[in-house]
Amino acid sequence: MGLVEEARNFCKQMAEEYGAPPFPHTEFVVKKGQELAKKLHADESIVIAGCYLMDIELGRALKEGKQKEHVKMGVEIAGPFLDKLNTDSKTKEKILNCIAAHHGEVPHTCIESEIVKNADNFRFLDPTGAMISLFYHAKDWSFDQSIGILRQKLEEKHALVTLDICKGEAEEDYRLVKAFLDKIV
Ligand SMILES: [Fe+2]
Repeated sequence: MGLVEEARNFCKQMAEEYGAPPFPHTEFVVKKGQELAKKLHADESIVIAGCYLMDIELGRALKEGKQKEHVKMGVEIAGPFLDKLNTDSKTKEKILNCIAAHHGEVPHTCIESEIVKNADNFRFLDPTGAMISLFYHAKDWSFDQSIGILRQKLEEKHALVTLDICKGEAEEDYRLVKAFLDKIV
């Protein structure tokens, strides 16, 4: 099995075990990442693996009440996972940066990492991504909580759009979803 398949399986397994992020939500981000990688002639495998691995520890972190640590925890678990696959050091470094930089706290060291962060923004900015979020959050949270999380994520992700080719679409999506949420009382 190659890197992409291994990362996909790992992500699916962690999502099933810890419940977050919902696997279909991640698949949505992967599609966006793949589209951006093609347009920007970036390494598609690194982008896809980065999309699958960036929130690999989010579910566990949420269960343990330490959501903010999911980035650090993700880097820590992804390192040995990539070593086990005999990933070359350059690829490993890039994928770890995809995880470390996906909330904008650490600078990008490669285009693949910037793509992963921008693709992740559409998880909540894109109307489909936003609806997937509401659908799955409804299992664990009240209506008001689900809407509140989406509102907060929408603002957070809007501020993290950095790629020029994403700006127009992201702005349009942001306004659309914001207008929709503003109608909800
Ligand atoms: Fe994250």
